[in-house]
Amino acid sequence: MKPRVFVLGGPNLGRLGRREPEIYGPTSWQELGRLCAGWAADLGLDLEFLQTDGEGELVGLIHRAGDQGQALVLNAAAYTHTSVAVRDAVAAVGIPVVELHISNPSAREPFRRTNLLADVVTASVCGFGIEGYHLALQGVAGLLKRS
Ligand code: DQA
Repeated sequence: MKPRVFVLGGPNLGRLGRREPEIYGPTSWQELGRLCAGWAADLGLDLEFLQTDGEGELVGLIHRAGDQGQALVLNAAAYTHTSVAVRDAVAAVGIPVVELHISNPSAREPFRRTNLLADVVTASVCGFGIEGYHLALQGVAGLLKRS
């Protein structure tokens, strides 16, 4: 059976393509989902691609990834900088977690340098635009092959 990888998006990522395109690019979340599905298929991964604006719902999806998946690629968006609940869910999830950001938060406003996830994730990908999702899936496929 193919390993199942969850790709989860936090608040405002559903508005990709329309949201500050000079920072996040022109690709919509739906289109990104199609791209990820193709990349995952090429890498022999089963994909769950989900987004929510809600903190509690994101915590629930992280739990689901831990129960049903073998790895998680997480763009927690603004909750990266604010949410102890998301951090605690990631710390407890029990599968490899790749933190992903389309932009490079460290090169932006000072408040984005607060990162509550950095020390509880397996790896991080940031600043590559949506190509980062391809890189993260490649990294996950390699991790799962070696485990
Ligand atoms: C983001 C960076 C965060 O600082 C921001 O709040 C987002 C998107 C990114 O993908 O670059 O919503 O996670």
